[in-house]
Amino acid sequence: MITSVQNVLITETCGLPHLETKPEMPFTRNILCIGAGYVGGPTMAMIAFKCSQYKVTVVDINPERIAQWNSDDLPIYEPGLDQVVRAARGRNLFFSTEIEKGIRDSDVIFVSVNTPTKTFGAGAGMAADLQYWDKTAREIRKHSRSSKIIVEKSTLPVKTAQAMEQILTCGDNGVCFDVLSNPEFLAEGTAVQDLENPDRVLIGSSQTPQGLMARDVLVEIYANWIPRNKIITSNVWSSELSKLVANAFLAQRISSVNAISALCEKADADIQEVTRAVGMDSRVGAKFLNASVGFGGSCFKKDILNLVYICRHYDLKEVADYWEGVVKINDYQKERFILNMLQVMFNTLARKKICLFGFAFKADTGDTRESPAIRIAKRLMEEKADLVITDPKALNNAKDDLKGVDGNVSYIEDPYEAAAGSCAIALMTEWSLYKGLDYEKIFQTMAKPAFVFDGRNILDHPALFETGFNVFPIGKPPLTHF
Ligand code: UDX
Ligand code: UDX
Repeated sequence: MITSVQNVLITETCGLPHLETKPEMPFTRNILCIGAGYVGGPTMAMIAFKCSQYKVTVVDINPERIAQWNSDDLPIYEPGLDQVVRAARGRNLFFSTEIEKGIRDSDVIFVSVNTPTKTFGAGAGMAADLQYWDKTAREIRKHSRSSKIIVEKSTLPVKTAQAMEQILTCGDNGVCFDVLSNPEFLAEGTAVQDLENPDRVLIGSSQTPQGLMARDVLVEIYANWIPRNKIITSNVWSSELSKLVANAFLAQRISSVNAISALCEKADADIQEVTRAVGMDSRVGAKFLNASVGFGGSCFKKDILNLVYICRHYDLKEVADYWEGVVKINDYQKERFILNMLQVMFNTLARKKICLFGFAFKADTGDTRESPAIRIAKRLMEEKADLVITDPKALNNAKDDLKGVDGNVSYIEDPYEAAAGSCAIALMTEWSLYKGLDYEKIFQTMAKPAFVFDGRNILDHPALFETGFNVFPIGKPPLTHF
């Protein structure tokens, strides 16, 4: 099928449209993104893929990362991303380390550098570390020869855009900057579909005529493929705060369910039966109600702690304590999981081989940032268990996460080989491949009594029990042979 859109030809290749720009058409906009990470890379790839009239350049201080973006082996695993990058790269999507040139040549700059939790000084362990954002703003000011729109993609504390505007506007070369907030709501593992068909796009701007003009430029970029009723606008601070609050609400649902899972285990109720009944209330909804060993990922904990820090700053102690409870329950859930393993495996894990099924913080990603598996692995090693870790995409990150930790740990990609000889399997990540394994075969190779601790409630517990396993789900009565 061939359709013509503006100056673009779209041809169907392998089910995905392949876009070709007519060579004679110049690019109508130069877009730069600073930070080629989990957010910057896929977001820019999607803009380039959808809008061949724009030139999109992604720069990063890390040359290895850029080399990977330019190779067949992308730095992040994200279903469908390969095809999107392949379609646009070299045509109107470019990855480069030339930050200075990138800044000079662009009219819209997205900033997507990381903003981890601060590890030092005031607000350590809670506030966002803004050093990369600050440094980036100064670089933009230094190298800019013309006015630009700066788009905050990183998740930042409320009022950061204002601070950045102050850094940016203190130049005396007549160059003007408008700072917009445009938080990214994509979730890893579904980034491509989230970017292609988002629930909403949020753009925060100052309400001055110039701010509103800048906002409209960004609206036009997204309107290339997103219906206008899904593009919402607000003031900058509401937009910055919305991102923190959206993540806090999502994480709060998981902590609420996980708190109730502890009660279910004591009260012989079944968390999946409870959440099904609760989630069918259309006012609550069914999503994000899966009990688990705990939430992970780069955002939830960091953003809630950031929210807590802001509330404390404004002397809102009760509000801060309320949200901090979400993180505390998440820590409690991981600790509960370990203590349960220890207790049911006869109060000692020393020299017992334990196999972790999955290490990524969720399925369909190789990302392990804040993965509950990290804490579980470290605690198991403290108990002197011999660990075997298997994961289809995250073993390299797992090795980095556990580097230097005292204890025995090995990494084996094949789950059958990994489980052989172990006393217990602890399922950490809901990879669908773990649902389809031959557990009869696995059971035969394991030490007895054999245990399964299903940290995601995805396995067929009665079938495992029938096979001979002692099964410990989350928030349900265990199925044991003793
Ligand atoms: C992003 C946002 O930045 C974060 O605030 C939000 O909460 C989640 O999404 P993410 O894309 O996941 O973070 O971060 P990461 O994958 O670490 O990518 C950041 C990139 O910025 C890295 O490749 C890093 O090398 C680059 N970087 C960092 C720069 O190019 N310049 C710097 O000064 C700092
Ligand atoms: C999250 C937000 O969903 C996204 O909008 C934001 O832009 C970034 O942060 P992400 O961290 O990539 O995305 O993944 P998400 O799907 O939200 O999962 C976060 C964690 O919660 C994972 O560890 C996941 O396994 C866990 N989770 C999710 C549960 O334990 N139970 C659930 O019901 C859902």
